[in-house]
Amino acid sequence: MTASIERLALPLGGTGKGSGTPGDAPGGPWMVVARMPGLAALHEEALAGMLARVAETDPEGPDHPMRVGRIGGILAAEFGLDAGQCDLLARAATLHDVGKLALPADVLCHRHVLDPAARREMERHTVLGAALLAYAAAPWIRLGALIALTHHERWDGSGYPDGLSGEEIPLAARLVAVADVYDALRSERPYKDAQDHEEAMRRILDGDDRISPGQFDPAVLAALRRRAPEIARLPR
Ligand SMILES: [Fe+2]
Ligand SMILES: [Fe+2]
Repeated sequence: MTASIERLALPLGGTGKGSGTPGDAPGGPWMVVARMPGLAALHEEALAGMLARVAETDPEGPDHPMRVGRIGGILAAEFGLDAGQCDLLARAATLHDVGKLALPADVLCHRHVLDPAARREMERHTVLGAALLAYAAAPWIRLGALIALTHHERWDGSGYPDGLSGEEIPLAARLVAVADVYDALRSERPYKDAQDHEEAMRRILDGDDRISPGQFDPAVLAALRRRAPEIARLPR
């Protein structure tokens, strides 16, 4: 793991709780790609096509991945991460839902609240995303794999796929989790209206029938409060 993504990716080395994390042990798959620059470039090219497809089909809208990246980068700055690390996080966060590409079309393009079986299928986008990205050499994609895997884990342990809690969850994923929910609330979907900034903030900080503030890292919520004016001004 390169120094620049070290803090964002902590804790690394797999969670020991099931799905695991793409590893970079000597001889592991990432190292193989790193030794074959042509293959790595091909992987990035394929990835660009996949991202465009996710953007086209995701009910949260084509700009959702970029906005989650920008908000995640703003929150990261509140943690004292330098500009390079904030940029790295912003890029990597755009990959958070790339695993949705591997889902059946009827689950991906849903136009209603999912039933329990479809929801379980949808939850697989975390491990599928990590698997799609696991062979990359570029640090931003490696961080993207970790975010794809862990962005639905929750501070209180109620998330998926591994039920991680607290600081077991990589910092990058704790930042993206808040950015993702904020942007989803602000977005219109086939089955719900878009909320304005104040209402989105209220639902995250106070909770509603689907969101509990306990699912988020309290330090990230404090960062969200401090940077709220800047986030409210982001173009939509
Ligand atoms: Fe997701
Ligand atoms: Fe998302």
